Amino acid sequence: MNIIIMGPPGVGKGTQSHRIIEHHNVVHISTGDILRMAIRSGTDLGKKVKSVMDSGDLVSDDLMMELIKDRLNQEDAKKGWLLDGFPRTPKQAEAFVAMLKELNSKVDAVLVMRAPAEEIVRRLAGRITCRSCNEVMNLIGLGGNAPKYCPFCGEHEDNNRHKPALYQRADDAEETVRHRLEVFRKKTLPAAWILEEAYQLHEIDGIGRPADVAQRIESVL
Ligand code: AP5
Repeated sequence: MNIIIMGPPGVGKGTQSHRIIEHHNVVHISTGDILRMAIRSGTDLGKKVKSVMDSGDLVSDDLMMELIKDRLNQEDAKKGWLLDGFPRTPKQAEAFVAMLKELNSKVDAVLVMRAPAEEIVRRLAGRITCRSCNEVMNLIGLGGNAPKYCPFCGEHEDNNRHKPALYQRADDAEETVRHRLEVFRKKTLPAAWILEEAYQLHEIDGIGRPADVAQRIESVL
């Protein structure tokens, strides 16, 4: 299966992606994760994109097309993929549809998740991620306080280097989240309409427990 999952920041794409890849044995390709990994590793790509990502703007279309072509050419992508965070602009969507046509490849489902802006701001204000295993959690589910260690992999805070085990993303500050929502509305929604001309779009209500949202997605897939 080849699947695309789209939606505004914080709607739960990453959370649902982890469930989908387990059920459908496809590889998770999150462009945001790939870029954040490049920043952490200090690569040339990471240096190029850091300030753009921190501000909530989008990385250039040319760079993203190059990145996605490379990633889809890797061996593990042959079994099927779940694209999370791509395409994100009309230009990316057009180039992607043309690329798949050339490769005689298809998309089985495009999932478009939605949730109200205030719920998204609330979720992202509480999102924390483990530095070591990258597991994503929310302070709301942890009683409002970040634990000193990761409940998933056990990573502890590093007192000597003042590095907590769990960190908040730079682009999750409220003002930046509101800017990312605007970028989604102006650039990514029009990209979804372009995909709709080629593939079937399915709207998914992102409100409710993650397990309930997962059920809605499964009933589509
Ligand atoms: P990216 O990493 O793709 O970020 P995003 O699309 O803004 O989405 P998020 O990762 O913020 O949210 P999510 O929907 O995955 O939510 P999550 O599951 O974590 O992109 C980051 C940046 O990279 C972009 O701004 C851009 O600069 C660059 N970039 C990436 N791709 C690009 C491209 N193609 N072109 C150009 N630039 C690109 O959930 C959020 C929180 O809510 C968590 O705490 C979670 O625990 C909680 N939660 C999840 N589900 C629920 C639920 N049902 N109820 C309550 N809480 C929930």
